[in-house]
Amino acid sequence: MRPLDEIAAPGTEERAALELLDLGALPRHLAIIMDGNGRWARARNLPRVEGHRAAVRAVRETVETIARLGIPAVTLYAFSTENWKRPRHEVAALMTLLKEYIDRELATFQANNLQVRPIGRLDQLEPAVQRKLQKAVEGTKACTGTIVQIALNYSGRQELIEVIRGVARDAAAGRVAVETIDEAWVNDRLMTSGLPDPDLLIRTSGEQRISNFLLWQLAYSEIYFCPVLWPDFGKRELFHALHEYQSRERRFGGLSPRDSLFEPTGEPVAKA
Ligand code: IPE
Ligand code: IPE
Ligand code: MG
Repeated sequence: MRPLDEIAAPGTEERAALELLDLGALPRHLAIIMDGNGRWARARNLPRVEGHRAAVRAVRETVETIARLGIPAVTLYAFSTENWKRPRHEVAALMTLLKEYIDRELATFQANNLQVRPIGRLDQLEPAVQRKLQKAVEGTKACTGTIVQIALNYSGRQELIEVIRGVARDAAAGRVAVETIDEAWVNDRLMTSGLPDPDLLIRTSGEQRISNFLLWQLAYSEIYFCPVLWPDFGKRELFHALHEYQSRERRFGGLSPRDSLFEPTGEPVAKA
């Protein structure tokens, strides 16, 4: 846990927001569905692409704040496998913005000790985008701070299909005893392997759905739906989300300590 003075200077609005948070109980992994760019642009009579352009500021501010808070990992949903259904020029603009974003931010990633990890079917992206992503991975692989996973051409169902295919191949070749397959085994084969499940999922723009994001990993995540459109999201909204997260009681199927008070004492039948 980082000392408060290192995160925000005393007397600032940011410091006041931070003082409401328990810095020892922040999410270890935050997932964000960055939605609402198109509506942001439409509301200004601008083409949708301008919404995507404006989104870059929100990504920068959010990632920088997450790193400063010392949150170990964030996964940003940037492009789903379903997003190929959009007009060709919109997809092309998104890919161009991604390349520009990496070029512009790589030095900042390094300065902030951020490790970039793209996830998704990257092999289906255009070669120039793949090369840029590789450059970001290579350039930040020695960084030991926040892991920034960028989900690109990502589908939660496709991720699970890949795991199932792997199991089928291993089983057919006699490389796996089927009874030994458990949650840890599956976790190890997901694109997010090595990271804890997201503690908190934020979706902006008021839409209340998962849209094929991290289907396995979100099993017990707290979900925070935020009405703000992604280009308007920033540290203020992030602090709100974290504050709300810390006011939730996570029970994971068990009882809250309050309810346990009124129950006869005894060991639970099964351990969590
Ligand atoms: C999210 O904003 C960005 C991507 C899905 C790539 P949208 O482009 O979905 O914006 P809305 O939902 O149409 O407003
Ligand atoms: C989800 O947003 C994907 C990303 C934010 C990258 P969409 O805008 O594609 O989701 P739907 O179509 O509203 O469910
Ligand atoms: Mg959308």
